[in-house]
Amino acid sequence: MKSIASYVPKNCITNKDFERIIDTSDEWITKRTGIKTRYFADNNEDSSELGVKAANLAISRAGIKVDDIDLVICATLSPDYLSMPSNACLISNRLGIENKPAFDIAAACSGFVYLLSLAKSFIESNAYNNILIVGAEKFSSILDFSDRSTCILFGDGAGAAVIGATNNENERIIDVNISANGKYNDFLMTPRSLGSNLNFSSEFDVSNIQATQSYVKMKGNETFKIAVKTLANDVEEILARNNININDIKYFIPHQANLRIINAVGDIIGIDNSKVVVTVNKYGNTSSASIPMAMDDIYKDGRLKKGDLLLLDAFGGGLTWGSSLLYFNGE
Ligand code: UT7
Repeated sequence: MKSIASYVPKNCITNKDFERIIDTSDEWITKRTGIKTRYFADNNEDSSELGVKAANLAISRAGIKVDDIDLVICATLSPDYLSMPSNACLISNRLGIENKPAFDIAAACSGFVYLLSLAKSFIESNAYNNILIVGAEKFSSILDFSDRSTCILFGDGAGAAVIGATNNENERIIDVNISANGKYNDFLMTPRSLGSNLNFSSEFDVSNIQATQSYVKMKGNETFKIAVKTLANDVEEILARNNININDIKYFIPHQANLRIINAVGDIIGIDNSKVVVTVNKYGNTSSASIPMAMDDIYKDGRLKKGDLLLLDAFGGGLTWGSSLLYFNGE
């Protein structure tokens, strides 16, 4: 990974702000989730725009030019358009990239780790030299602000990285282990009945179409339990298959959904607390952007250094999950 960057929109929403619109309290949100603030994009700032801002910075930090990018892939569950054009095409266009492949993937909060898996394969097969990967979310656009169990959890933001070819063993993505189980597809979903599941006949009966069906729904408690178990298993599996000890990891960067999940996983895998990166308190859950935003936080404050061995761990709707071991190679 040659660089990491992020973009945080400017509107800070506190727990107190939610107290004004739903039956909740700063105390409940803090205790159950660890979240204190999250940031929402402006009305005219789409998820692709957030992605462009992170991507521009990632490219300049990688010390390359826009023309050097061979492929753009974006992970998002809140794209500007329901089906096309992809956010990756919109991002490419605004960066000034032409005639290079660009596409989106749908792996919810595991999106960034899925992107790493793709980038690693493309780089190692010598298909491309510099790949721009972007996780970009305008989660506020799919929140039901009358559902207190979900609307307080999520935030907007974007993270981007440049993955480049290297011959140096200590600069590579060592491993990415991704998986999914659609059996649990209803744990976290955005029904979007205006999408492909709208039957031809019901199209003519508008009373069947409820606006709220396009908002995110979650079985929070069930998701919580399976998240802790899966995230911990993920770590044990990837460390074992690469013969790496947890003490060799410089930073553990898990998906930022809930501080209680992060702490529970940290305890199970036995990692020193000082190595666990936490940003959920500031940004809430920003889905595919949460891991790169957390990485950029420790890059910006000077903790993340070239050569650091990182362990990433993600979990999200689908259900999808995945982990990665990699060296950070940014300056
Ligand atoms: O990013 C993908 C992965 N995402 C996750 O893994 C998220 C996993 N889930 C969670 O983080 C937690 O389940 C939540 C934070 C969503 C909920 O916490 P919980 O401890 O599981 O609470 P609960 O759903 O069991 O609800 C407990 C109570 C309920 O009230 P009753 O039925 O006991 O009277 C809820 O209605 O808390 C109530 N509640 C709230 N109260 C105040 C739910 N949301 C709120 C709220 N404010 N915002």
